[in-house]
Formats: sequence, structure tokens, C-alpha cells
Amino acid sequence: MLTRHSDCLSVLTDSARFASDWRRAGEDIPAPLLSVQTLDPPEHTAIRHLLLDGFRAQDRQALHAAMDRWAGELLAELAGRPSFDFVGELAEPLALRFITAFLGVDAPDPAWFVPMSRTVVDGMDAGLWPEKHEPAVAARARLAEYAGGWLADPPKDGLIGYVAAHAESAGVDRSVLRNSLRVVLHAGYESASRLLGNAAAALLTYPGALAAFRTAPLAAAVDELIRYDAPVQADARVCVTETELAGVTIRVGDPVTLFLGAAHHDPLRFAHPTELRLDRAPNPHLGFGRGAHACLGASLAIRLAGSVFTALARDYPDARAVAEPAHRSNLTLRGLDRFEVTLRPHTGEEELS
Ligand code: HEM
Repeated sequence: MLTRHSDCLSVLTDSARFASDWRRAGEDIPAPLLSVQTLDPPEHTAIRHLLLDGFRAQDRQALHAAMDRWAGELLAELAGRPSFDFVGELAEPLALRFITAFLGVDAPDPAWFVPMSRTVVDGMDAGLWPEKHEPAVAARARLAEYAGGWLADPPKDGLIGYVAAHAESAGVDRSVLRNSLRVVLHAGYESASRLLGNAAAALLTYPGALAAFRTAPLAAAVDELIRYDAPVQADARVCVTETELAGVTIRVGDPVTLFLGAAHHDPLRFAHPTELRLDRAPNPHLGFGRGAHACLGASLAIRLAGSVFTALARDYPDARAVAEPAHRSNLTLRGLDRFEVTLRPHTGEEELS
């Protein structure tokens, strides 16, 4: 178990010795799990590059304008209410709308998709609760099947339009592509909505943070919000070549857990780690991973958070929490279950609970 920033960074950037593909340590991986996330170079390279090219081919300007518009409209609608749940009424619907627009498809029915997505997240803690593994594998398979439907009749535009048209020439296996689109949908929904929720909680509960956000450099501010309260708290690899790390021998087949949230609060790497400093620079957080498997959606996620919190800080300076943020019980992905906030000016008469 690694908690130091330097050790986590070493492992993330050394896929020769620390594998994401557990088959390299002799494990059996069910077919629906083979994706961009679980393959390693050289097999990983073709799908990673196809997705990367697909991400780059999207019209960023149009997407950014849409993010600004959606964030502004949602906030304006919710501002009419005495209070609302930032997670269920803003972060989650916005993330789903954004990621499906990016993929180029209609959003799935949340009543079907959200419980399925949660089952996948629960499975990330299966190292501690093995009973969560099988339902998560089944949920991944159903979501991958759903993604397969997109490929059977691909849209002209969006990421799916691009990868469907280029997969064959890129030499990418159809089922790996389908499973990887499932990863994009899931990451775009779960990680991005958690980023919005965690960041809202920090901005509305840390003294002076919302006001500071107005003048802080945008990208630095979002990076700091990720460092401070990371949506992805833990990552895992398996050792495939005996290695010594920080004086400890790690043997072939040993699982290695990287506590990214702890690394973000490592005083050897970050001065005053418990303080939220929105202009912190440099900020070498590991919230988007590093190395061969570094997040493909990082710049989009930063931009989405920028749209929401720029509009919030600019148009609703009185925004505040009306209840403590309530967290979901998951150890790998950290996020909120509920966070009741109001955008209305303080009248001085109301009692906050
Ligand atoms: C715009 C939404 C997002 C999309 C489309 C997205 C997509 C992806 C994809 C496809 C990968 C796998 C890359 C690979 O294995 O080669 C990935 C990895 C990762 N993403 Fe994202 N992501 C998004 C948002 C986020 C957010 C908000 C966070 C946290 C702040 C995050 C954290 C990570 C991490 C830590 C990894 C590395 C996992 C590993 O090392 O095994 N992602 N992302």
C-alpha cells in the first residue's frame, strides 16, 4: 500500500514493472473487462491512440460553448428554488448530458443506468468486499452490451462516430472498443459528477473559497480542487517484475494499491497540504493518474468544472451550503450522495440546519 506521492508516481509511470493487465501476473480476466483501462502496452497502444485521436477530432469550441450554456441554464433554473441537491439535480444530470453528447448518443434512462453504474463503482472495492465483484462484472458486461448497440448503428458525429469509422484501420478489436466506450461513458459520468460534487463542497464550505475562485487562475483552481478532495482516491497495479520500492521488496504477483488521496496530502510534496490554495503552483497531483493510463478526459473534466464554477462564483456569489455534504460509502471513488445548497442571497432571517 503506497501513500507517498513519490512512490505512487514511480508505480504509475512504470507499466513495465507494474501492470494494469493482471493477466501478466497469471490472473484470469473476464472478456467484458478487457478495455483501454485493463490492457497494457503494446496491446493497449492501438485502442489508446484510437480514442486519443477520437477525443482530438471533436469540436472543442462547440462542446465548451454547450458546457457553458448547460451549466448556466441549470443554475438559473435551480436558483428559483429555496434550495436544491447539488449532486442529484446538477452534478449527475450535467455529467450524463455532457458525456453522452460527447459520445454522440442519447442519454440512457437514468433509472436503468445509474444503479448499473453504482454497481460497477461498488465493485472497485471488491478487494475488501469480495461479494461486490460478481455483480460488478455483470454490470460491466451489460453496459458493454449497451455500448455495443452504439457500434451496431453508430451516430455520424461524436466520439462514437469517429471510432466506429476508424477502428478497423487502427487494428482495434471490436469487443475491446465496445468495452472501452463503456469505460468512457462510466468515467465521464461517475468521475466527472464526483469532481463537481466534491469541488462544490470544498468551494461552499471552505472559508472564502467561492470568492477566491473568482480571481484564481481557472485551471490551477480546478487542479487544486482535485488535489484537495480527489474523486479517484485509489488506483491499483500488480507487480510483474520483482522491485524494491522505499526499501520494501515487492514480488511478482503482489497487488499494489496506490492511495492517491493520501499522496495528495503528502507534506513532502505539497506545502500545507490541508489548506485549499486555489492558486497553488506547481500542483503535481495524481488525480488523473499518470503514465500510459493517464486519464483521457482530464482536459474535458477540467473545462466542465470550469463552466459550472465560473458561472456559480460569478452569478451566485451568495451560494452556500444549507446542510453538511453527505458522502457515499465507497473507498475507491470518493463522492457525495447529497449536498443541499441555496443560490439565494442570505436574508438574515433563515436558520440554516
Ligand atoms: C470527462 C470525463 C472523463 C472521461 C471521458 C475519462 C476517461 C478516462 C479513460 C478512458 C481512462 C482510461 C485511460 C487508459 O487506461 O488508457 C481514464 C483514466 C483515468 N481517469 Fe478519467 N475520465 C474522465 C474524468 C475523470 C475525472 C474527473 C477524474 C478524476 C479527477 C478521472 C481520473 C482518472 C484516473 C485516475 C485514471 C487512471 C486510471 C488508472 O491509472 O488505472 N477521470 N479516464
